[in-house]
Amino acid sequence: MILRDEIVPFHIAASSGPEDYDEDYDGIYEFDDIASVTTSISNSATNYKFENGRRYHSYKEGQWPVPNDEKQQNQMDLVHQVYSLRLEGKLYLAPITECPQKILDVGTGTGIWAMEMGDLHPSAIVIGNDLSPIQPRWVPPNVKFEVDDFNEPWVQTPGTYDFVHAREIHGAVSDWPKFCREAYRVLKPGGWIEVAESAAKLLSDDGTLPSNCALNTWLDNLAEGFEKIGQTVEVGPHISSWLRDAGFRDIVVKVFKLPVGLWPKDRTERDIGAFNLLNMTEYVEGASLQIYTKVLKKSLEETKKNIKEAQAEFKRKDYHMYIPFYVAYARKPEERF
Ligand SMILES: C[S@@+](CC[C@H](N)C(=O)[O-])C[C@H]1O[C@@H](n2cnc3c(N)ncnc32)[C@H](O)[C@@H]1O
Repeated sequence: MILRDEIVPFHIAASSGPEDYDEDYDGIYEFDDIASVTTSISNSATNYKFENGRRYHSYKEGQWPVPNDEKQQNQMDLVHQVYSLRLEGKLYLAPITECPQKILDVGTGTGIWAMEMGDLHPSAIVIGNDLSPIQPRWVPPNVKFEVDDFNEPWVQTPGTYDFVHAREIHGAVSDWPKFCREAYRVLKPGGWIEVAESAAKLLSDDGTLPSNCALNTWLDNLAEGFEKIGQTVEVGPHISSWLRDAGFRDIVVKVFKLPVGLWPKDRTERDIGAFNLLNMTEYVEGASLQIYTKVLKKSLEETKKNIKEAQAEFKRKDYHMYIPFYVAYARKPEERF
């Protein structure tokens, strides 16, 4: 959708302190002082970088080695479609309160989850943050987007959120235990966190996916690259202990299968497989270009060859493959008196 690529007004989260601070000021700022600072930050967030035909974020340039252009936004919306089908239309699984007041979607991407959540819970203010201000201009009145870096100390007022949601941010978090502690800090007692992450792994239950196929080589390379930049892609197997160590309780981890391709006989599974095939063939290029060329130091030629091979293998009908998908949710305990 064209609106996404327009430069839209957005709010930059103040990383120097909590959102609702009440410091006494000696004097008042003149409008020009504020305007000159906010304008320069705003310009810097939309001063996108271009490389090998793809567009990348500019706020905290280099943090996220995946494009933010229209191609990638379409891919993010395909992921949303896949997850919605898998979770039977549910936006989340955590048993949150019926009338939440504040919801935070961390690394919101196109903001599609946050907007649907705003429609579903008109009682709530839903805030989505991201390094890229790529969310649409016309959003439900209770939805707000902010440019922010979730690897920095969180700016939200401690103890004020009913629900923190994070989806598909593996490869972007530099310290998961710290990330879970920050979520714990901003949640109200009794509030919930949900982390939904697919694995960077392809499996088949009937041995049709050879372990030495180009897809597995591609995924191994990708995982190695993200490890090298200190942003692991392996979340599912560890999320439970990270949440527990941060103080969360009532932890539930559910693992689903996301088929890729049209191989399943069951109609729903085949629908998921079809959307996921489109998703993955689009994802390959965006996820690989910078990791391969900048981190793994492969030539652009070799990178493009690997991308083509992986895209071709995703289309193989004889590979009955799927991706494990983890949904973890947990509660911040109520205060004891
Ligand atoms: C794969 S997308 C997922 C988007 C969305 N959560 C969804 O499920 O549709 C990952 C998003 O995380 C954002 N991101 C990466 N690193 C970030 C950071 N340090 N702080 C905030 N957002 C970040 C990216 O810009 C991108 O939009």
